Amino acid sequence: MMATSENEEKRSLELSGDVGFNSLPCQLVNKLVARGFCFNVLCVGQTGIGKSTLMNTLFGRTFEMEEASHYEEEVKLHSQTHELQENTVKLKLTVVHTLGFGDQVNNEHSYKPILDHLDAQFEKYLEEELKIHRSLCSYEDTRIHACLYFIAPTGHSLRALDLITMKKLESKVNVIPVVAKADVVSKNDLKILKKNIMNELLSYGVQIYQFPTEDEDVAELNSSMNTCLPFAVVGSTEDVKVGNRMVKGRLYPWGTVQVENEDHCDLVKLREMLLRVNTEDLREQTHCRHYELYRRRKLEEMGFKDTDPDSQSFSLQETYEAKRKEFFRELQHKEESMRQMFVNKVKETEAELKEKEKELHDRFEQLKRVHHEEKKHLEEKRRKLEEEMNAFNRRKVAAETLLGHALQGCSQQ
Ligand code: GTP
Repeated sequence: MMATSENEEKRSLELSGDVGFNSLPCQLVNKLVARGFCFNVLCVGQTGIGKSTLMNTLFGRTFEMEEASHYEEEVKLHSQTHELQENTVKLKLTVVHTLGFGDQVNNEHSYKPILDHLDAQFEKYLEEELKIHRSLCSYEDTRIHACLYFIAPTGHSLRALDLITMKKLESKVNVIPVVAKADVVSKNDLKILKKNIMNELLSYGVQIYQFPTEDEDVAELNSSMNTCLPFAVVGSTEDVKVGNRMVKGRLYPWGTVQVENEDHCDLVKLREMLLRVNTEDLREQTHCRHYELYRRRKLEEMGFKDTDPDSQSFSLQETYEAKRKEFFRELQHKEESMRQMFVNKVKETEAELKEKEKELHDRFEQLKRVHHEEKKHLEEKRRKLEEEMNAFNRRKVAAETLLGHALQGCSQQ
């Protein structure tokens, strides 16, 4: 067979009839539908900002979630997976909550556990990809496809924590900022707040997820939605009566906020963008942009390089050899340093033992001296006692003699 050159002209052929490959898209769809989809959402925001309520409202069901404590010592991530079905489409939805985010006295490193979690999911996927026996088709993808960043409605713009966190997240996940509990601010204030937030994100160079405008079917809708960011959302799972209809809303003394009314908030827009129009793009961006960046960095760190087109070398083989040599060098080095450490330890122990022996010897000598002194002292005492006893005996004998003489004298008289 002749090799085709890159510049060779390709001929388009007209088919005389239907041969069947026009069913390829349908085949693909059927296969994907049968397999089901997964979508992983990360909710970042301070405790009580309305994360759980918003997720419940978005998906129209209650995901049981315990109320988080305001007194967490550090930020923890909690993930829950739910199997949902809409008509024939199955969706495995994972919602990851950040517990204790923004609650600590020092929030400087609040973003760290979040980045660690995102990296850990990329690492898991990379490990699967690098396995000899890969099972990517049935792999449970836990990489985060969208991060809803909840901004407090109070204040004039973003807090330093929001800016820092979003900046850190931008290269790892698709960040979609939302102004939470938008019903607590007036329409005018909300407009100003949204504008300030976007200006601030722009001036600090924070890249948030932009709804794609390449596909002409959704270009117009997506570009208009890009101008609505950040979405101002209100969450509620309560049914309230408006006229003769029951709607999801929040009831106030002054009226009702209908969460699915686009004049009241942007919840419908968020749902439309997240679940109806751009879910696949979010998944694609996660794989092609964020994961790709992680993978590239990781492989470069491990010493892999792409094939050098000039030298025509097979760099995977070279890299493997280089890594093998480096590994053995490191192993030898480790062995040598462990041997040295062992010798030093033995020397140290020997010196310690000698020191202990000397201490014991000195102590023994000292005890011997004390014992000798005491013995001398006791002998001196014994000698004195014996002398005293002798003197006493002598006095006793003398007294007895005297007494004998005296008694004799008396009896003669
Ligand atoms: P943790 O999971 O404990 O971190 O809290 P959370 O961020 O999930 O907040 P949650 O959804 O539990 O809501 C906390 C409180 O805020 C509840 O009393 C909600 O009813 C209320 N809430 C939630 N969303 C909104 C909203 O859009 N507007 C108003 N006004 N209140 C809301």
